[in-house]
Amino acid sequence: MKEKASLVLHFILITGVIVQAFEPISTTILTGAGMAALGKKLYNYLVETCNEHWVGFNKTGLEADLQSKLFGQHVASRVILKAVTGFMNTENPKKPLVLSLHGWTGTGKNFVSQIIAKNIYQRGMISGFVHLFTATAHFPHEAEMDLYKSQLQQWIKGNVSACPRSMFIFDEMDKMNPGLIDSIKPYLDYYETLNGVSYRKAIFIFLSNAGGENIVQVALDFWKGGRDREEIELKHLEKALSLSVFNNKNSGFWHTSLIDKNLVDFFVPFLPLEYKHVVQCGRAEMISKGLKPNEEAVEQMARDMNYFPQDERVFSMKGCKVISSRLDFYI
Ligand SMILES: *[C@@H]1O[C@H](CO)[C@@H](O)[C@H](O)[C@H]1NC(C)=O
Repeated sequence: MKEKASLVLHFILITGVIVQAFEPISTTILTGAGMAALGKKLYNYLVETCNEHWVGFNKTGLEADLQSKLFGQHVASRVILKAVTGFMNTENPKKPLVLSLHGWTGTGKNFVSQIIAKNIYQRGMISGFVHLFTATAHFPHEAEMDLYKSQLQQWIKGNVSACPRSMFIFDEMDKMNPGLIDSIKPYLDYYETLNGVSYRKAIFIFLSNAGGENIVQVALDFWKGGRDREEIELKHLEKALSLSVFNNKNSGFWHTSLIDKNLVDFFVPFLPLEYKHVVQCGRAEMISKGLKPNEEAVEQMARDMNYFPQDERVFSMKGCKVISSRLDFYI
């Protein structure tokens, strides 16, 4: 579906460019320089290039996506919009943007990274300027750590040299080797340049479950107190985050001096999802599959999910994570 749509889009785009490009040709003589310019123009539209056609920022799109596609995350949504918009609208940022997203599984951390990528890069996550690293998949062997370090540094340097507006997403940050995290620290800092390369336009996003349990506790306290979930503000979660994230000597992430050096610009908490959010995710999933939402199936699926804590059964154990495959079973 998606591929087809993008093919059609490409076709329209290419046709448009050709028509546009040939327009002046009918009235002027085609010179060598003209040919070269035309070729360059076509190339720019066909091949992803680090220019404003492929890389930019769609604030309205980001806002709309966060509002209509991300469920149950009013705090994260606000912080992300503010952080990304502020950074993208700054002509000469003093350092790259570094976001650290925290929360229980399936609460939307990966999904938010995709939304950010989609509203900066024409090709979203499949853009050649977006790089996703998963600790256990990309850096699995302790013995290879030195190799990983130099590789990762080379990649960051090479990619940012080719396109300053590059994005690096590190999934499973809590499972990353502290030494490996340390090796990328210089790129997150305030340096004007490092060996002639400026990293100030780059974006780094760290994803982890660290702090997830404390965030759950805050949400549960609100729920038990009969308070509206929407009343939860960043300030209520900041303490929960700092307690678990900053003081937890067991989590690899925090053995490093990322924190003391204030290299992370925003810590973004993700709340655990409730039944109603799982229903929302199910509905959205059906629509994205091109189906008419089937309320009964979606609700049945949501009811069959596991919830915790055991007595209250308020929060979805897996959030919205397994919904895509589960839904097939109900429709
Ligand atoms: C850019 O990063 C990718 C990994 O995402 C790596 O394979 C590639 O070699 C890097 N490019 C450069 C020029 O370093």
